[in-house]
Formats: sequence, C-alpha cells, structure tokens
Amino acid sequence: MLRKGAQVLDVGCGPGFWASEMAHEYPNSHITGIDTVEPGIDRLVNFHFVNANVLLGVPFGDETFDYVFVRHLNFGILEGDWPRLLAELVRVLKPGGWLEVLETDMQLHRPGPHLERFSQKFMEIQRAKGVNPALARLLPSLFLTLPLSPVRKGYLSFPCGKTWAGKLGKLTMSDWQATVNVVARHVLDEENEAEQLLNECDEYKTFINSHIVIGRKKL
Ligand SMILES: C[S@@+](CC[C@H](N)C(=O)[O-])C[C@H]1O[C@@H](n2cnc3c(N)ncnc32)[C@H](O)[C@@H]1O
Repeated sequence: MLRKGAQVLDVGCGPGFWASEMAHEYPNSHITGIDTVEPGIDRLVNFHFVNANVLLGVPFGDETFDYVFVRHLNFGILEGDWPRLLAELVRVLKPGGWLEVLETDMQLHRPGPHLERFSQKFMEIQRAKGVNPALARLLPSLFLTLPLSPVRKGYLSFPCGKTWAGKLGKLTMSDWQATVNVVARHVLDEENEAEQLLNECDEYKTFINSHIVIGRKKL
C-alpha cells in the first residue's frame, strides 16, 4: 500500500522523525503531520504539516487517509479524551484503511528501589492530571469499541542500562535521562538521587514495554 502510494496521517508528529523517514522510504505516498508545534524537519515534496489541536477535531474530511499513525501521544491526552480522539481518527480513515497506535506503559519492570520511588511519584502526578500512565494496556479494548476489524496487538520490551543491554539499553538510558532531568526537580528530594536511580538499571536489569495496536476500518 505504501509503496504504491497512500495517504498517511502522523498524529502528534512532534519533531517529524517518523514522518520524514516514511516520506523518504515511500516516495509515492504522501505524509501529513499534525501537531500544535512546528516540526524541525526539512521541507519534503511528499510531507506537509498542519498545525492543529486534535482534541478540537481532526481537521480533515471523512475517509481521507489510508493509514493513520499515533506514537507517544499519551502525555498530551487525558484518559477520558482517548475514546473521542480514536473515533475521530477512524472517521478520517478510508474503509479498509489502517489505524496504528504505539504507546509506552509507564509501569517499569524490575526497577531498583530509587527508580521505583521516582516512577511511583511520576505516575501519581500523571494520574492527578487525568493522564493514565497505563493507557497503553487499555488500547486493545478501546479499539474493540470501534468499527475496526481485525485488531492486532503486540508489545516490544525496551531494556535500560549502560552495560547489560547493548546499544538499545544505552539508547533507552539516554531517553530516560532526559525525562529524569526534566521531572527530577519536582519529584526527588536529594540532588544526587537522579544519578543514582538510573545507575540501578544495570544492577536490576530494568525494562519497559511499548504496546502496539493495529486495526483495519471495516469496509
Ligand atoms: C512525545 S511527542 C511524540 C512525537 C512523535 N509522535 C514521535 O513519536 O516522535 C508528543 C507530541 O504530541 C503532540 N501533541 C500532544 N497533544 C496534542 C494535541 N492535542 N494535538 C496535537 N498534537 C498534540 C505534542 O506537541 C508533541 O509534539
């Protein structure tokens, strides 16, 4: 479908990395990115950006896209807004088109004691705002309320650490480092705790799961 030429929507495209890679890899397809913040990517003939808040409605007609993609939008969307947003995304899909959502379940697996404490506080803050840190695990049941069939689900585990999990572990570590640096001053009591809690990842072999759900709009 993408090789032949498809209309693709990247919802909450952020810096536009995914959209840009797709645009390069599938020159016959057209990628539309939507976000409230301009992406930083170079101008491409088969990518264009629309500045809009998707919670106010997705600004496209019914049955416009062959493939709608969402990745890591959860921290911008309250739990109660997800059913309405997903229904909007299905509205703009053509019959037979595909909806794919990838979100990370914030529940850490095998965290050390400092990281566990940090993570619990972080999740408390999210819940107080109305964001569900475990939304990723609810996605399959939300998909089943929509006119999508078949619905397929899976997950990928992301190990975190400098020594026990190779390149992927290091990449995850640098990603978490950025989050910890932003959140730490609201959550941690001691200054040196930020360093300590990520060092635990190698000792405890910490990992996290990202869930992927894919559904096809009924014909
Ligand atoms: C964590 S970034 C993910 C970016 C991209 N999807 C990726 O995986 O690289 C989340 C993005 O969603 C956007 N976002 C959050 N709420 C939004 C909304 N209501 N409407 C449009 N974009 C939104 C944010 O501006 C941000 O760029």
